Amino acid sequence: MQEVNVGIVGLGNVGSSTLAILAENGDQIALKLGYRLKVVAVCSRSVHAKKIPAGLGDVFKTTDWREVVAHPDVHIVAELVGGTNAAADLVNAAIENHKSVVTANKELMAACGPDIWDRAIQAGINLAMEASVCGGIPIHAVLREGISGDRVMALYGILNGTCNYILTEMEKTGAPLANILAEAQRLGYAEADPSADIDGFDARSKLVLLAALAFGERITPADIFMEGIRRITPLDFRYAHTLKHTIRLICGGRRTADGLILSVRPALLPASTILAGVQGPYNAVWVKGQFGEDTFYYGWGAGHPTGVAVVSDLMRVAREIRGGSPERVSPFAHERLGDNKPVSVTLQRRAYYLRFRVDDRPGIIAKLAGILASKNIGLEAVLQEPCDTKRDLPFVITVEQTSEQSIRDAVEEMSRLDFMREAPLALPMETAL
Ligand SMILES: NC(=O)c1ccc[n+]([C@@H]2O[C@H](COP(=O)([O-])OP(=O)(O)OC[C@H]3O[C@@H](n4cnc5c(N)ncnc54)[C@H](OP(=O)(O)O)[C@@H]3O)[C@@H](O)[C@H]2O)c1
Repeated sequence: MQEVNVGIVGLGNVGSSTLAILAENGDQIALKLGYRLKVVAVCSRSVHAKKIPAGLGDVFKTTDWREVVAHPDVHIVAELVGGTNAAADLVNAAIENHKSVVTANKELMAACGPDIWDRAIQAGINLAMEASVCGGIPIHAVLREGISGDRVMALYGILNGTCNYILTEMEKTGAPLANILAEAQRLGYAEADPSADIDGFDARSKLVLLAALAFGERITPADIFMEGIRRITPLDFRYAHTLKHTIRLICGGRRTADGLILSVRPALLPASTILAGVQGPYNAVWVKGQFGEDTFYYGWGAGHPTGVAVVSDLMRVAREIRGGSPERVSPFAHERLGDNKPVSVTLQRRAYYLRFRVDDRPGIIAKLAGILASKNIGLEAVLQEPCDTKRDLPFVITVEQTSEQSIRDAVEEMSRLDFMREAPLALPMETAL
């Protein structure tokens, strides 16, 4: 049977991994499909300096993605460029040229995925984006196929490998974030500008996509409360351990009576939970269904596994092209679905961990307890490690379940107290996982 032809745009980490897999695993792939996936064109700005695997045979090389999109033999364009500028132009041009598209681009799909899907459906072409979230976990396929018969009630994920590596190293070694980040940058695990990872932007784009798949909503980044990991210290891990918890950057979505609550933020997890055991640069997703109960998915988030996700998407789209079945239903719902509407995280009810740094003097606990009582927040425990200095004394208060709004009001009032060295750090305690 005749092959399905592929054009690859972007030959960085993901693009070069994709080419290597297509070259080295081409025979297996052909056996699974019944025909070959043939790379006919590749593109990057520095394509002529790139080594293209010899096993791929003769491949057209260009620095201009328009030549891939317009290439008469290309059936599927893989967008592996990243960002939202050239990538958006190229995906839209591919759709206009009636080429199917595979993308690994979470940023683009989080920003304008619903519109891109609508255009793809209207054009009758196929689109796939498995590699955009958790490269090593086929979570799109799980949510769109594997457990699509269930009604997802909650989804919690560790979706940023860099943050998870930093937090688990801090937990293991007791070193501060700045030192671990510098080492991660030296080893190539973290970008020179780490903001997208440690401030939560990357994880938020991924949660936009997973929440849309899980809850059938048109979710935007603005629907998701986001807080990064910059304020987490080794001391917080020591206190968390005393409480039999650990700390992870948790991407969460949950149906509540008020609506859908979405957040990306560091949180305390009971040490006994499966998510607490996720170490280093691994990703994980835990899903709770109304009928199917708990399922858990685990794997690498970057590197070669992302190449596997792209190649598997190319195979999926090739099958769809051969079967004449373009996707007719966008994974993003077209309308807000009423009771599923994203609502403010301030409605969330949780127990909270509050960490203070104060200039020590008598009466501090009484003052803080007074503020908590005035907001109707029940105090659970006070923890304080021995400390030499009275000028910068850390301690922790945990409080019973209350609303995020009440905690915010309390923290704001506490921040104004003259003995406070910095605003209190408030972390939710995800005890229900
Ligand atoms: N890295 C991962 O493990 C990973 C995991 C999951 C998803 N992703 C996603 O996969 C995508 C690619 O990531 P990456 O890490 O492979 O990026 P990368 O290493 O920076 O590679 C980007 C590639 O795109 C090419 N490029 C950029 N602008 C271009 C333009 N205007 N025309 C033609 N080529 C252009 C670059 O060309 P030059 O090399 O010539 O500059 C480079 O080959 C992103 O959307 C990312 O979010 C990555």
